[in-house]
Amino acid sequence: MPSDPAHQDLLEALDEPVLILSGRKLRSANAAARRLLGRNIVGRDIRLVIRHPQVLELLLAGKNADLAAVGIGGAERPWTIQMRPVDGDSACLVRFVDRSESIAAERMRVDFVANASHELRTPLATISGYAETLAEPDVPPELRQKFAATISGEAARMQHIIEDLMSLSRIEASRFITPDERCELATVARQGVDQIEPLAERKSCDVQLEVDVSAKTSVAGDHVQLLQAVDNLLSNAIRYGGTKVLLSVGVEFGRPYLRVKDNGPGIPAVHLPRITERFYRVDEGRSRGGGGTGLGLAIVKHIVERHRGTLDIRSRPGEGTTVTISLPPA
Ligand SMILES: Nc1ncnc2c1ncn2[C@@H]1O[C@H](COP(=O)(O)OP(=O)(O)OP(=O)(O)O)[C@@H](O)[C@H]1O
Ligand SMILES: [Mg+2]
Repeated sequence: MPSDPAHQDLLEALDEPVLILSGRKLRSANAAARRLLGRNIVGRDIRLVIRHPQVLELLLAGKNADLAAVGIGGAERPWTIQMRPVDGDSACLVRFVDRSESIAAERMRVDFVANASHELRTPLATISGYAETLAEPDVPPELRQKFAATISGEAARMQHIIEDLMSLSRIEASRFITPDERCELATVARQGVDQIEPLAERKSCDVQLEVDVSAKTSVAGDHVQLLQAVDNLLSNAIRYGGTKVLLSVGVEFGRPYLRVKDNGPGIPAVHLPRITERFYRVDEGRSRGGGGTGLGLAIVKHIVERHRGTLDIRSRPGEGTTVTISLPPA
């Protein structure tokens, strides 16, 4: 059965490494298996092909079984190896299922839960500490007021984190649904600038809007999400940036874009690759002090991905930061 060309075709059509074993003899191997284990393995004794003791034991036992193993085709690569007797038990089908991706996803999930818990625990510890002190009988009124203000500030911070997390999960949940509303980026930009005005005023930052009126800047998008993305970028530019912020809208290489440029201190190059990760901050103390949760750019990235767009962050210390979202045209 395994030497039948039709069966070989079926094996070759699979992307994952697959072998057919007859006792100790390797009767068939698809291209992925040959890449993993060696070009001339077909016809050989399996003991000469695989040296991993537990995997070899599994393969020689010839029974229906699964085994998780690391160290075939690269020291760290994790596999599940599945043995399935076929052809009236005269042969066995062996599948190598690559677990690298699912392990990476699992690690991300664990990291995320740990980070989120840590972020929430810090304000919570402050709240409970101050609340305990407030419960004591002889706290002077001015301290009472100060503690209450700290408690409400930390509670607001927790609320901000939770709202951002919920927003992120809503965006992630919709990632396979391509947005189809017709959105005018100039309108999104104008609303973004209006919305950010109070913050800009508080920080004495001058926010300018520049729209290329000759360009066709409409896209198929989700208006609320695009506005949320612009709001995040503008608030970063104002909070960590400088005194001047420019939001521009136009078309470049046939793609409509929104660009936020500031004249702030910039982001050191080592941080740029990780800046869109959840909870990643360049300067923890400064961002946290300014109410930052490190989720803003992660939200922007997910919004842009859902819109099949690209996010480009350019920055040089001392020369400010420029963030561009470009989107497919409508
Ligand atoms: N325009 C900018 N100039 C300098 N640093 C920036 C700029 N934008 C972002 N950063 C840095 O990148 C970090 C991550 O930004 P992000 O928007 O993801 O989180 P955040 O602003 O800390 O929190 P949030 O946006 O959730 O309130 C910030 O903490 C800040 O250190
Ligand atoms: Mg931010």
